[in-house]
Amino acid sequence: MSNLSPKRAIITGITGQDGSYLAELLLSKGYEVHGFIRRSSSFNTGRIDHVYQEPHAPNHNLILHFADLTDASRLVTLLNEIQPDEVYNLAAQSHVRVSFDEPEYTGDVTGLGTIRLLEAIRAAGVSPRFYQASSSEMFGATPPPQNEETPFYPRSPYGVAKVYSYWITRNYREAYGLFAVNGILFNHESPRRGGTFVTRKITRAVARIAAGQQSELYMGNLDAVRDWGYAPEYVEAMWRMLQHDEPTDYVVATGTAYSVRDFLQFSFEHVGLDWEKFVKFDERYLRPTEVDSLIGDASKAKDKLGWTPKILTPRLAQIMVDADVAALGVEGSRFIDSVVTA
Ligand code: NAP
Ligand code: GDD
Repeated sequence: MSNLSPKRAIITGITGQDGSYLAELLLSKGYEVHGFIRRSSSFNTGRIDHVYQEPHAPNHNLILHFADLTDASRLVTLLNEIQPDEVYNLAAQSHVRVSFDEPEYTGDVTGLGTIRLLEAIRAAGVSPRFYQASSSEMFGATPPPQNEETPFYPRSPYGVAKVYSYWITRNYREAYGLFAVNGILFNHESPRRGGTFVTRKITRAVARIAAGQQSELYMGNLDAVRDWGYAPEYVEAMWRMLQHDEPTDYVVATGTAYSVRDFLQFSFEHVGLDWEKFVKFDERYLRPTEVDSLIGDASKAKDKLGWTPKILTPRLAQIMVDADVAALGVEGSRFIDSVVTA
C-alpha cells in the first residue's frame, strides 16, 4: 500500500453478510472503502451500522453510494468518480430457492450485473483489481470433491447466472488483461447470515424454541450435504486473492461434509434439545432441482494464498446459536437450562 494515500476499494453488496465483514477487514487495513447500496424503503444497513461514519466527519474512510447492479450508467459514473484500486463484486440475488421464483430478475442482477460492472470499468478507463463472488452452486450436480478443474453443472437459475458471471470474468481477464479473479466460495455462514438460508433459519429457531417463543420448525430436504465455513475467514481469502501477483481462480472451502440433519443436531444439541421433537417437513422448501452434495478441495488457496479455515461446521453452529440466543436478550445458558428441564 502506498505511504501517500490509502488504497480505494469498492464493495458492491456491502449491506450483505460478506460485504459487512469485508468492509470491516478493509477498514482495519487502512483502505478507503466505497460501499454501493441500493435504495430501499426500509433501512438495509443494519449489518454495517457499527462501522458507519458521518459524512461530515473529518477523514472518514467509509463512503456509501446509492447504486444498483441493474443501472449501468450509474456504475460508470461511480467508477469514474472513485477511481478504485480494487473492486469486490459481492452484490447478487443470492437465494437459490428464490431464483426459481424470480429467474429473470436473478439473471439480470446475478448474471448481467457482472458484465455491467466490468463494462463500467472499461468505460470509465480505470484498471482496478476485480473480485467476482463465484459460487460452489455452479458445480451443482457434479459429484464432490470439487476443485478449480471440476466441470460446472448448475441446478438453479442462480447457479446458471453465476456460471455466466464466472466466465465473463475470465473472459475480461483474457481479452483485456484485467486483473480479474473468481473466488469459488463454498457455503459460509455467520450470525449475520440472512434469516432464510438454512443455517440461520435453524439457529434462529433454536433460540426461539429454547426461549419458549416457537414450538415448530418447518424444513425441506434434510439430506443435502454442504461444506459450511465461517464467513469472516472467507472474506480474508477474497482480499488475499487480490494481493497475489497472479490473477487466477480459487476454491475456498473447509473440505468437510455435513448434512442439513447434522446441522440441526449440532444446533439443538447446543441448547440441550432433541431436534426431532420440533422439526417438521414442508414441501414448499424443496427446490425443483436440488444440489445434493458440495464438498470443496481448497488446496490451491492453501498453497498459493496460505489460507486455511479454522472454524468448522460443529463450532459454527454453536457460534450462531449463541448469537441468536443473545439477540433474544436472554441470559444464555441459565435461561436455556430452565427451559430444557421444563
Ligand atoms: P447476501 O447477504 O444475500 O448479500 C447480497 C448483497 O447484494 C446485499 O448487500 C444486497 O443488498 C445486494 N444486492 C442484491 N441485489 C442487488 C442489486 N440489484 N444491486 C445492488 N446490490 C444488490 O449475500 P452474501 O452471503 O453476503 O454473499 C455475497 C456474494 O457471494 C453473493 O454474490 C453470493 O451470491 C455469493 N456467494 C455467497 C456464498 C455464501 O455461502 N454466503 C457462497 C458463494 C457465493 P440488500 O442488503 O439491499 O438486499
Ligand atoms: N433455505 C433453506 N430453507 N434450505 C433448506 C431448507 C429450508 O427450510 N430445508 C432444507 N434446505 C436445504 C436446501 O434444499 C439446500 O440443499 C441446503 O439446505 C442449503 O440451502 P441454503 O442455506 O438456502 O443454501 P444454498 O446451498 O442453496 O445456497 C447458498 O450457498 C451457495 C454456495 O454453494 C447461498 O449462500 C448461495 O448464494 C451460495 O452461492
